Amino acid sequence: MQVKAILGDITKFEADAIVNAANCTLLGGGGVDGAIHRAAGPKLLLHCMTLGGCKTGEAKITPGFRLPAKYIIHTPGPRYPSMKPDVAEEKLHNCYWNSLSLADQHECRTIAFPSISTGIYRFPLDRAASIVAETFVEYAQTHETGIDEVTMVCFDQTTYDAYCNAFHSAGL
Ligand code: APR
Repeated sequence: MQVKAILGDITKFEADAIVNAANCTLLGGGGVDGAIHRAAGPKLLLHCMTLGGCKTGEAKITPGFRLPAKYIIHTPGPRYPSMKPDVAEEKLHNCYWNSLSLADQHECRTIAFPSISTGIYRFPLDRAASIVAETFVEYAQTHETGIDEVTMVCFDQTTYDAYCNAFHSAGL
């Protein structure tokens, strides 16, 4: 399982699955959630309305509709200020773990993530990046995964630098 970080817009990224930093309603919002819904088109919202929401740290999958990606995996990240740090860290780990697991179940070979919870949900970026790196290492070590490539699609230079540093430190 190759892991890399790039600078870019996840709505334009060609992967089997892209991950959405959603909220628990799954009915769209701002940030990357809003961008993905705008790019995927109105059928995504109609589909999400049938899913009954999603708990923080869990993940649900939909078609990609107008996106280049075949699937969208929606996972609500922890809202950092409203949680104890250790609980928030566990939930963030779960977002990435459950998204990888769902991608494997759907035989995805490539998957792209945004930096979940480090925007509106205010999770400290450097800490998030190291949790993400640890999660990827642990997942690869404990699974015969079919996922060949994981890409962190970073929307700004600061986020990109944080993930490059974290992945390098983790030997990824
Ligand atoms: N491509 C890639 N990354 C993006 C894009 C994009 N098109 N747009 C924004 N981002 C980045 C942000 O810059 C940030 O680094 O995604 C990361 C996550 O930020 P948010 O989208 O604010 O997500 P999050 O912090 O998880 O907050 C989730 O915000 O949009 C609402 O409905 C969403 O309530 C939920 C909350």
